[in-house]
Amino acid sequence: MNYLAVLVSGSGTNLQAIIDACESGKLPETKISVVVSNRKAAYALERAKKHGIHTIYHPLLPYRKAGVSRQQYDADLARMLLSYPVDLVIMAGWMHILSMAFLRYYSGRVLNIHPALPGMFPGTHAIERAYAAFRAGQIEHTGVMVHRVPDEGVDVGPVVAQCVVPIYAQDSLEDLEARVHAAEHELYVKAIAQELGIHIVE
Ligand code: GRF
Repeated sequence: MNYLAVLVSGSGTNLQAIIDACESGKLPETKISVVVSNRKAAYALERAKKHGIHTIYHPLLPYRKAGVSRQQYDADLARMLLSYPVDLVIMAGWMHILSMAFLRYYSGRVLNIHPALPGMFPGTHAIERAYAAFRAGQIEHTGVMVHRVPDEGVDVGPVVAQCVVPIYAQDSLEDLEARVHAAEHELYVKAIAQELGIHIVE
């Protein structure tokens, strides 16, 4: 069996795609052992609970208030995950940058998804920025990439999988967002299979 830990902060549509792939057998012999959110209200937590997956709520605020370092927050996150079987850590909309205090425990085994092509629009609002760049005639298409997370860099690291997402002249921002998210859901499952060395079952 292959085990995933998924880190989330928001709605969890990527998490849902991974849950569905595990349950349908598209990702054979693969289970999510735990989902961690830094936000209590993250809908992703509901999605996990509906599927009987263990969840952890790990907020940063109490650390900030107590003047405890970010490194300690990350080290505690790693310590929590160490009590679960975890082959890969999947960042699926996790809105914190993971420091080495976490990454040292999972070297080469942390993946992140970025809703743009490698080197393009790092950080938040990547789809909006791609849309604006298209409107300004600066790009002809956008894309999605999944990369390993070796260090504290934002949306950089060895690329595991990428795909181009077209933008059409008549697209609204919502049209483009929907197309990028659909591409993300497919690419993340593919990238996870690749990293685990298993074949997707269509
Ligand atoms: C995705 O667009 C992902 O690329 C970005 O955050 C978003 C998370 O969406 N890092 P969801 O919570 O998986 O729906």
